[in-house]
Amino acid sequence: MKYLIAGNWKMNGTAASAKALASGLAHKTGVSAAHADIVLCPPAPLLPIVAAEIGQGLIGLGGQDCHANEKGAHTGDVSAGLLKDIGCSFVIVGHSERRADHGETDAIVKAKAAAALKAGLTPIICVGETEAEREAGKTATIIARQIAGSVPENATAANAVIAYEPVWAIGTGKTATTDDIAAVHGQIRNLFNGEGKANLRILYGGSVKGSNAQAILATAGVNGALVGGASLDLEDFWRIISACP
Ligand code: 13P
Repeated sequence: MKYLIAGNWKMNGTAASAKALASGLAHKTGVSAAHADIVLCPPAPLLPIVAAEIGQGLIGLGGQDCHANEKGAHTGDVSAGLLKDIGCSFVIVGHSERRADHGETDAIVKAKAAAALKAGLTPIICVGETEAEREAGKTATIIARQIAGSVPENATAANAVIAYEPVWAIGTGKTATTDDIAAVHGQIRNLFNGEGKANLRILYGGSVKGSNAQAILATAGVNGALVGGASLDLEDFWRIISACP
């Protein structure tokens, strides 16, 4: 199974910085073969700028969110169909920042993932426990609830990706231990009801950087990474890509 390294730029970047980062990455993939599938998820207004730099092929494009509906009166939202139309092949749904900032429930995340599938996009469906939940010993319960509630019935290993992002590890410099990562990834794979679970790509996210990528990516059940902060630094992001086994 080929690894997938996705860069979630979150609410960062300008037209100029997006152009520089995307063209820099395109240059690197042109010079030396990437060990992984690579996806860039910039803020929505920067998608066409990134699309123009990466061209067709080696680097994929993804949105950071989509609406559950196909179109209509939803000011500020973006449809999965439009993301597809402008060249995306992926979309992140259910990121913990959207669950927290926008009150997204499992049901909403599931509807968004279903909309993505209908539009022909691969949803990257995010799950993960908070620090309080982990300390209370509830990690497995929370992950089970999120997988049961957020993953559409028609999701398969071929059309969807899951990302495990412990909330307390995001942007904090803390990472889960490789034993904890292996345990949760194993649980997610077991719980996944869709076709082909052995080939389901499960990404780890939360303070992944060049210096820890090798250990994380070599962990059992880890098939790639969803990278925030380090994806804004071309050299560090490339170190992560190059750390894929
Ligand atoms: P950091 O890599 O900045 O911790 O962010 C992880 C994340 O939330 C990716 O979606």
